[in-house]
Amino acid sequence: MKKLRKAVFPVAGLGTRFLPATKAIPKEMLTVVDRPVIQYVVDEARDAGIEHFIFVTGRNKAVIEDHFDVQFELYNTLAERGKTDELARLQKLQPLPGQTSFTRQQVPLGLGHAVWCARDLVGDEPFALLLPDMIMQSERGCLREMVDLFDETGGNIIAVQECDPAETHKYGIVGRGADVHNGFEVTSMVEKPPRGTAESNLFLNGRYILQPEIFEVLSKHEKGAGNEIQLTDAMLKLQNEQTFYGYHYKGRTFDCGSPEGFVEANVAFALWRSDMNQSMKETIERLSREIKPV
Ligand code: G1P
Repeated sequence: MKKLRKAVFPVAGLGTRFLPATKAIPKEMLTVVDRPVIQYVVDEARDAGIEHFIFVTGRNKAVIEDHFDVQFELYNTLAERGKTDELARLQKLQPLPGQTSFTRQQVPLGLGHAVWCARDLVGDEPFALLLPDMIMQSERGCLREMVDLFDETGGNIIAVQECDPAETHKYGIVGRGADVHNGFEVTSMVEKPPRGTAESNLFLNGRYILQPEIFEVLSKHEKGAGNEIQLTDAMLKLQNEQTFYGYHYKGRTFDCGSPEGFVEANVAFALWRSDMNQSMKETIERLSREIKPV
């Protein structure tokens, strides 16, 4: 079984729900407390043992590449000023030379198409896929837990969580079969099932470990829900030949693709920090008392 070394991050989306904030800044660079959203996802991948980070980008996303590059002037200035803690923190997060790759999606044809754009960079080995809109909070990262399952089973692993049954039409929905290790066998996958038709409320939360044969399926460029090339449809096809296991993630997930989820993530990550927890609680309480909606 080939080792999992690479992760793909599709970051080509326009971020229209965040205008005007995203006019000149990619949505993945908006900050949750003091880290850009994309940094959370890359850190989760690194913590899971990933060694190569592949970004599928688009126009106006160059700053993401800069963010993961060395900043000599900044590092030197921090060193000269004796700001060793800040410097060490930055260096810990710094990918090594040759550990990042970037390619452009060029046309917005959907998630399946974005993943397909990474085919040559991934090559013939399994890879992780992390959707940067979803950031997660737990002691052990979601991908780390999935890697544990993958080490036991191989195959393809998809992470799921429970959603409000009234919201199933917004996500990819998964059917649950027999338990396997710390996961389960996947019986079905449907992308954005029409209201009232979902088989469960287990939704794909944006973390995947996939085998490279997915690229062959995606190369057919078949369109699905929303007239887009859907990854879920390709996974369903691949399921005819390969096994898919589900991992039920029990941590907190924030959908930073919507302003509400993004603000919630900021509150949650501030509360999670021991140096901010108390003051944040007091601030939230005071502001909720004082502020009435306009
Ligand atoms: C994508 C996937 C969907 C998944 C969701 C999680 O949908 O296609 O299966 O549940 O991400 O955020 P999108 O949010 O791009 O519509």
